[in-house]
Amino acid sequence: MACIIKRMARKIKRQLPSYFIAGVSLACTTMLTCSTASLAQVHVLQVDASRSNGAVQPTMWGIFFEDINLGADGGIYAELVKNRSFEFIKPLMGWDLNGKKLKEGSFLLINEAKERPNNPRFLQVSLSDAAAGDLGLVNEGFRGMGIKKDLAYDFSIQYRRLTNPISLLLQLKNSSGKIIGSGQLTLNATGDDWQQASTSFRATDTAASGQLQIWLVGNGQVDLDQVSFFPGDTWKGRKGGLRADMVQALADLKPGFIRFPGGCIVEGHELSTRYQWKKTVGPVANRPLSINRWNNEFAERAAPDYFQTFGLGFFEYFQLAEDIGAEPLPILSCGMACQFNSAELVPLDELEPYIQDAIDLIEFANGDTQTKWGALRASMGHPAPFNLKMMGIGNENWGPQYLERVKVFAARLKAQHPEVKLITSAGPFSSGEMFDTLDKGLRALQVDFIDEHYYMSPDWFLRHANRYDHYDRQGPKIFAGEYAAHPPKQPQGPLRNNWQAALSEAAFMTGLERNAAVVEMCSYAPLFAHIDGWQWSPDLIWVDNLNSYPTPNYYVQQLYSLNKGTKTISIEEGGKALSGQDSLYASAVLDEKQSMLIIKLVNADGVDKKTVLNLKGLRIKAKEAERIDMKSTDPLAVNAVGAAPKLIPQKASVAIKTSNWAMVLPANSFTVLRIPYQK
Ligand code: AHR
Repeated sequence: MACIIKRMARKIKRQLPSYFIAGVSLACTTMLTCSTASLAQVHVLQVDASRSNGAVQPTMWGIFFEDINLGADGGIYAELVKNRSFEFIKPLMGWDLNGKKLKEGSFLLINEAKERPNNPRFLQVSLSDAAAGDLGLVNEGFRGMGIKKDLAYDFSIQYRRLTNPISLLLQLKNSSGKIIGSGQLTLNATGDDWQQASTSFRATDTAASGQLQIWLVGNGQVDLDQVSFFPGDTWKGRKGGLRADMVQALADLKPGFIRFPGGCIVEGHELSTRYQWKKTVGPVANRPLSINRWNNEFAERAAPDYFQTFGLGFFEYFQLAEDIGAEPLPILSCGMACQFNSAELVPLDELEPYIQDAIDLIEFANGDTQTKWGALRASMGHPAPFNLKMMGIGNENWGPQYLERVKVFAARLKAQHPEVKLITSAGPFSSGEMFDTLDKGLRALQVDFIDEHYYMSPDWFLRHANRYDHYDRQGPKIFAGEYAAHPPKQPQGPLRNNWQAALSEAAFMTGLERNAAVVEMCSYAPLFAHIDGWQWSPDLIWVDNLNSYPTPNYYVQQLYSLNKGTKTISIEEGGKALSGQDSLYASAVLDEKQSMLIIKLVNADGVDKKTVLNLKGLRIKAKEAERIDMKSTDPLAVNAVGAAPKLIPQKASVAIKTSNWAMVLPANSFTVLRIPYQK
């Protein structure tokens, strides 16, 4: 059976994957053309607060984190040393051995797989009368190390079997080789047990692409492992923690949930490389390294140095969710490897360990500290539960095999944990036979959520803003778990995060919001991309080694999330939802806690549009509303990586009129109105 799926996957791959084949353009879009008919037309919009389509869940707008594009290792996980424990397939990748006294045998790479299966390799160093410059090793970081002037950096190393005390001279260098910080550390503990030594020192200059030189000074022999270097300004100052600017960018979205750790990374190329959460918790040095599936997914964007250290593991994901006020949404393997790759399948009668992983994860997140997994959570510093309420079974899996596995998983999980909602996958496509079969099958199984993904052209997003208008309100809820507009004719990379794409997403999101009664969660994908290490574009936030650069798409997401409200209300033109007529889109919500009416309006046309608003069903005494606009007449406009963003929301105060409120929606604009009302 697995072979049949594999052949099918190959066939599908050949047919399409618009987004799986980097560089392929999607269908052409017509946005930003002038519609002469609309110049004179005035659109009269009726907002009626007494007509609600249902509640907006606090989880409505969330984020999806996957270690793709150097999102985790080399990204948000702030470790600066690449291949710190010599476990990459090429054990010295990222390292250079150097010095005047370097000779055959100075460094031996030892593999103790039997004794230390999770972290088998280490370096054995022999030195004789070595001074600074005689024997050393250099780490290049992930596309260099981002170093900030005056910031303290934390160096640590594990060692054992030291025959004589040895000093380490640590030097930070910029790309011209200039020393921009140095520190010293003496190793003097003897014995067969691994010891940790650490020191901190400040950088004297900033470097976008620095490296770390370690000189070994002295005589004798020592085993070295876990060479680590972290900036002192990690998120919340946690040692060995996350990059603060990247976490802040997430926190600023105020996401309702965070889906992690993938994505395809959950499934693995083959089952052996699937994401296994149990291998990502406990002491960092005991978390076994795994190849990152994006290492070699796209030949033209190969990243042979892309591995997962799991320094950002499941404990840290839960902690991150808590820090940014997002509900955690872990996704687990359902016993099917990626069907675009090996499509390996676990037989149904061997599914038990996969189901047990899911049950144990609930215990890890929520269990009492007396339980096995709850105790581990407590030992890692979080005795209180993480309040896990939902979990995904599989990523983009499909076929009858997926439905069979969902059935088994759901029966077991619902029997033991009816309180945990289950998210199931509608596969990688937005429509078609595969989608329909899954949709029908999952509805028959009465699952809690169906996770739909669409990476399509901006034109598709504009044309499908009414996608959910007729979805069954009684059936499973919808999770729009991965979506992004992929502009045609744009080269892969950050230029794909252009205004045309972002605006079409804003238009589509009016439809998500209008249908919040059935669409309870949504997340753009992927989240992060390193400018020198990406595999997939477009992405929500671009980063380099020092800073984060939010895209126009980011600000669209943020405008929705910060203005999500608590219930949707009707906004119509001529008795119909505004969903593409004359390239206009609209949705409206009430935020009952803030007593705020919030209206979102999109003009996806290349000319200004005249509208008139009539507000009904609310007592409005305030004189002024807040108007927030994002606009550009250039569909190709982007926020440049390396510079302050230019395409950002602009705020203004405007006078309120409850009837015949004339308003111009500029060409190619997204507008949010915040209108205070009285309870
Ligand atoms: O977001 C990138 C990838 O797109 C995800 O890993 C996968 O789920 C989808 O195909």
